Amino acid sequence: MKRIGIMTSGGDAPGMNAAVRAVTRKAEHEGLEAYGINYGYAGLLAGDIFKMDSRTADDIINRGGTILYSARFPEFAEEPVQLKGIEQLKKFGIDAVVVIGGDGSYHGALRLTEHGFNAVGLPGTIDNDIPFTDFTIGFDSALQTAVDNIDKLRDTARSHERTFVVEVMGRNAGDIAMWAGVAGAAEDVIIPEKDFNIEDVAAKLKSARARGQKHNIIVLAEGVMTAAEFAKKLEPFGDFQLRATTLGHIQRGGTPTAFDRVLATRMGVYAVELLLEGKGGLAVGIQNNKLVYHDMLDLFDSKHQPDMDLYKVAKDLAF
Ligand code: ADP
Ligand code: F6P
Repeated sequence: MKRIGIMTSGGDAPGMNAAVRAVTRKAEHEGLEAYGINYGYAGLLAGDIFKMDSRTADDIINRGGTILYSARFPEFAEEPVQLKGIEQLKKFGIDAVVVIGGDGSYHGALRLTEHGFNAVGLPGTIDNDIPFTDFTIGFDSALQTAVDNIDKLRDTARSHERTFVVEVMGRNAGDIAMWAGVAGAAEDVIIPEKDFNIEDVAAKLKSARARGQKHNIIVLAEGVMTAAEFAKKLEPFGDFQLRATTLGHIQRGGTPTAFDRVLATRMGVYAVELLLEGKGGLAVGIQNNKLVYHDMLDLFDSKHQPDMDLYKVAKDLAF
């Protein structure tokens, strides 16, 4: 193996650049060359590929977003399109690829491996919804952004004795909501993995108010419904001075936290080591602070499990 391609694909996440830098520098350290593939699988097909080195990877560890851009390119699910992508890998002399993205991106990586080009996936998504890893690259940064904003909303909630429904990202996973709810001392946390009863939520708010608490925060994962819809459902149950806020894509941007930078760096280095061992079709993760890899096929058969102990903590303190 002489040349490794690197791409970021699917939704961007803070820390992706740290992973790109780590793969580039580790490749150089091992006497290999690194090639950046812009715009995920769309850029692979278009041959939007360039040589990277430690200089092109300078000053990116602290930058949000992805310097390699990202794209959604569903056409890559079709075999003739994959074969055109393989032609580009051959043209640029790329022998193996590191794909940073979510499980959709991993499907593309597995196809590359099946076509004879080993590919290893790094979990890059703010949602923390990838199986076989305790944390994904970007989750910690997005969480910090959510908590910073909840703290701001708490100030104004307190001044006006209001209840804020704060919608955080998480299409299918409640991890951001759960962690942000605990860190932001929310009165309730609503996640897609658990049913909720609007009457119970209202009763909780009423009891909090009856005990003298005059402002409240409810953290809601976007996968459940919008903050505005949730506030509407609560309205008939009492005068809670409701306000609805959607944090949205703000959670995807900004400076990656030190945790995400270190996680991405360790994973990037590990991916190159796996490729050097001739391995492919693998998804890198971190479990109990140890880097691990799993077969992508096993990963596709699994579902991310939210931390129900943490959910219980959130619920036990919410009254
Ligand atoms: P994520 O990687 O964050 O889950 P997507 O599901 O949008 O995001 O997938 C990212 C990209 O991965 C897609 O735009 C497409 O290019 C590629 N991809 C997704 N599913 C497949 C598949 N079944 N086969 C090949 N490539 C795929
Ligand atoms: O998967 C990451 C994520 O940010 C989700 O939390 C969110 O639902 C989705 O991507 C938004 O996607 P888009 O950037 O295409 O609007």
